[in-house]
Amino acid sequence: MSKTPIKHLAIIMDGNGRWAKNRGLNRSKGHEAGAETIREITTYCASHISIETVTFYAFSTENWKRPKLEVEFLMRLLDTYLKNEIDTYQKHGVRFKAIGCLHQFSKSLQKRIAKTEELTKTNTNLTQVLALNYGSRSEITGAVNKLMAEGKTSVTEKEISAALQTPYTDIDLLIRTSGEQRLSNFLLWQLSYAEFTFTPTLWPDFTAKELDDITIDFEQRSRRFGGL
Ligand code: IPE
Ligand code: IPE
Ligand code: MG
Repeated sequence: MSKTPIKHLAIIMDGNGRWAKNRGLNRSKGHEAGAETIREITTYCASHISIETVTFYAFSTENWKRPKLEVEFLMRLLDTYLKNEIDTYQKHGVRFKAIGCLHQFSKSLQKRIAKTEELTKTNTNLTQVLALNYGSRSEITGAVNKLMAEGKTSVTEKEISAALQTPYTDIDLLIRTSGEQRLSNFLLWQLSYAEFTFTPTLWPDFTAKELDDITIDFEQRSRRFGGL
């Protein structure tokens, strides 16, 4: 029985649309409110003793199926979020990283992402990873293709892990908000031994206080990793 600290937290931020609908608002208002929650949770993680990385699922490879107007709104929101976030990143020592198929985004958004990564690259308190146009099957397929292009005909687990876009560390805890209990193609490889918490709270209503309660609960769990 080993109690391990959370080093890598992953979050599937879900429920923005329902949050807005419950208030008679357009779904876009839910996404705006959700962006505020990302800031609050990132700040909490930066001050947490053991958390080194927090990975947020912000846009999946399947989210292109949404109405064009919603997708366009999300792209603009991401750009504004990153532009406004620099102060928070610098103030709390947060390094920003993006994972996903970024080349499908507009050139200007790709530039914004690269610039934000560049400006924050020496921050060491916390790494905030945003999964953007991310799909786990696509990530694993990309890793295998990369290894084959290097001439490998057989690969090890270690090599696949290192070839993924997220070679940080395995995930200790996954949280999904809004009551849905599925992975929606998120970090399938990296979640192999993660603990899971599903909360009915809609993402814009999720708070640092709730996260704090979840981390305290996590610390009580016994993770055996197949041992005794
Ligand atoms: C999560 O909230 C944000 C994204 C997937 C971009 P949703 O937009 O999925 O909200 P619901 O699930 O419709 O309530
Ligand atoms: C998962 O949420 C993707 C993100 C949070 C970015 P979705 O709302 O897209 O997932 P499904 O469609 O309910 O599985
Ligand atoms: Mg959803």
